[in-house]
Amino acid sequence: MRSQMRSQTGDLFDDVMDAQGGRETLAEGAVILRGYARDQAQGFLVAVDAITDAAPFRHLVTPGGFRMSVAMTNCGPLGWVSDRNGYRYSPVDPESGLRWPPMPEAFRQLASLAAAEAGFPAFTPDACLINRYQPGTKLSLHQDRDETDLAAPIVSISLGLPAVFVFGGLTRSAPTTRTRLNHGDVVVWGGPARLAYHGVQTIKAGHFPETDHQRINLTFRKAGSSCA
Ligand code: SIN
Ligand code: FE2
Repeated sequence: MRSQMRSQTGDLFDDVMDAQGGRETLAEGAVILRGYARDQAQGFLVAVDAITDAAPFRHLVTPGGFRMSVAMTNCGPLGWVSDRNGYRYSPVDPESGLRWPPMPEAFRQLASLAAAEAGFPAFTPDACLINRYQPGTKLSLHQDRDETDLAAPIVSISLGLPAVFVFGGLTRSAPTTRTRLNHGDVVVWGGPARLAYHGVQTIKAGHFPETDHQRINLTFRKAGSSCA
């Protein structure tokens, strides 16, 4: 009886650890750090509000003319943009002609620490794409391949409503795994997984205290060349 109780307590402890600080391998070079950004999440959301005051969320159009359901903006020296002419990184916000808002130091630090934790030391992002998902929106399977420096990983921080993240292989048709991403979870993919296809399934209706009906995702990239 006693040992049974102890093992039940042990299982519970493991569950709590998984929820708060577990590490899950998605593929070689790809890891989820559960709750890694949770302590800073509130401050990050305040920073996102300030960034979007200067560079509001907008719906980009793909080169094929499709309006993306996920709204986007950027902070940092370079920002990812898409229009009829293609996908690219730009030092200025095409809507305002001004530079993107600076990347908060706390963003840069957490991204670097998470990358190191995942086995990619000395990651210094120069771009942070901020995605806003509302219920009913999704991001189709794609590769992040517009960056010059593919030696650097991608670091992704999830805030607000949960999402189902789809992670595949190096071809569109490779098998995929699905995993739930919660507020404060961080995913890092690099090395052999750097060009892995990934996406986000349609967000379900819900309410999250700090973000209302939204999921916010920050992805950190090294978009320009190291000597830029
Ligand atoms: C992305 O692929 O750029 C974003 C991934 C996510 O929202 O989790
Ligand atoms: Fe992506």
